[in-house]
Amino acid sequence: MTIFSVHSTIFSRASVVLLSSNGFKRFSFASSFSSTAVYSPRLPKVKKQRRYPIVSAVDIGGVTIARNDVVKDDDPTNNVPDSIFSKLGMQLHRRDKHPIGILKNAIYNYFDSNYAKKFEKFEDLSPIVTTKQNFDDVLVPADHVSRSLNDTYYVDPQTVLRCHTSAHQAELLRKGHSRFLVTGDVYRRDSIDSTHYPVFHQMEGFCVFSPEDWNESGMDPTLYAAEDLKKCLEGLARHLFGSVEMRWVDTYFPFTNPSFELEIYFKEDWLEVLGCGVTEQVILKQSGLENKVAWAFGLGLERLAMVLFDIPDIRLFWSSDERFTAQFGKGELGVKFKPYSKYPPCYKDISFWISDAFTENNFCEVVRGIAGDLAEEVKLIDKFTNKKGMTSHCYRIVFRSMERSLTDEEVNDLQSKVRDEVEKKLNVELR
Ligand code: DAH
Repeated sequence: MTIFSVHSTIFSRASVVLLSSNGFKRFSFASSFSSTAVYSPRLPKVKKQRRYPIVSAVDIGGVTIARNDVVKDDDPTNNVPDSIFSKLGMQLHRRDKHPIGILKNAIYNYFDSNYAKKFEKFEDLSPIVTTKQNFDDVLVPADHVSRSLNDTYYVDPQTVLRCHTSAHQAELLRKGHSRFLVTGDVYRRDSIDSTHYPVFHQMEGFCVFSPEDWNESGMDPTLYAAEDLKKCLEGLARHLFGSVEMRWVDTYFPFTNPSFELEIYFKEDWLEVLGCGVTEQVILKQSGLENKVAWAFGLGLERLAMVLFDIPDIRLFWSSDERFTAQFGKGELGVKFKPYSKYPPCYKDISFWISDAFTENNFCEVVRGIAGDLAEEVKLIDKFTNKKGMTSHCYRIVFRSMERSLTDEEVNDLQSKVRDEVEKKLNVELR
């Protein structure tokens, strides 16, 4: 997999069509929402085996959140593991010497120097949001796959860890903000490889226009907004990447119409940079804005930072190893990361007969729960169905530390824990 697939925008890519349980066609989603099961049964809670010390509370922008408010072992709708809870207060985007923070600041600089009417900045909004904010307010259909327990972390039936920064659009509009950038950590249950991690960072941009803005141009308001949006984002791409070739691709998002993706030609490949579009009128009306148009965009910071800083593995963003952190300085966009080591990988295969309830995201969550960031990749390498109709999956797990060599004993121990827990939690039969 190339790094260009890193956390693609969700909700887009109308090319993959799924049938929902009630038979209606659903629009699809991009690579980071790669599951096919809607409302899949959740992981049964079994006593957790932890590689991490349990964090009992985190601080999000001065507010203390207790573990028990977010990780609820006895609630069947809760699927937040401790490893995810411990990420809640980390806010990599607020660290000026971290690649994610450096990139955020470079985007801020672009907006500050190109727009006299400044964009307000929000980067401290809590990632714990209601399902209304995350889905309903931005018109995500009731049966969209992103609402499933397989794809999203639920605290309880009405509360999730936001899976995109679009979750804040409507609330900020209602509070009277009309030009803003929202940056934050977002959470998605996902596969394991060098470009996917269950926590990453997004920035949302939003800009509202009034009749006086478009009247003078004589243009149709939607066209006016779309042109302004494209001009703004082409400028941003040049600010970050220099004079690159770009193209606009029509796409679909529930919250915008028309919707586009911007791609740039970088290192001999087309790289999707962001999703954007002209905001659906319903969103503006529901937020009390009549007779306005608006544009919005959302971009994934890891995806761009991996390219701009040459960072080969998404786990590195979370490393506190000085050999990583000391390579980046405030304001230094695009310094190339020098890999300091390549410790040997260790491959382990596991095969089992799956049940109907099996999903790959659930399997990956078990692996991450045991191996944490030592799990580099989980790949389906064989799959077949026997005459009795039983389906077998064989996964290859790649264990590798970015900081040291793993011992055989350590890896065998991890693998044996994975085998135990997969059998207990996922209702599969080991082969
Ligand atoms: N929320 C989208 C995602 O995570 C990204 C996005 C696309 C945001 C288009 C927007 C937008 O504001 O207009 O996939």
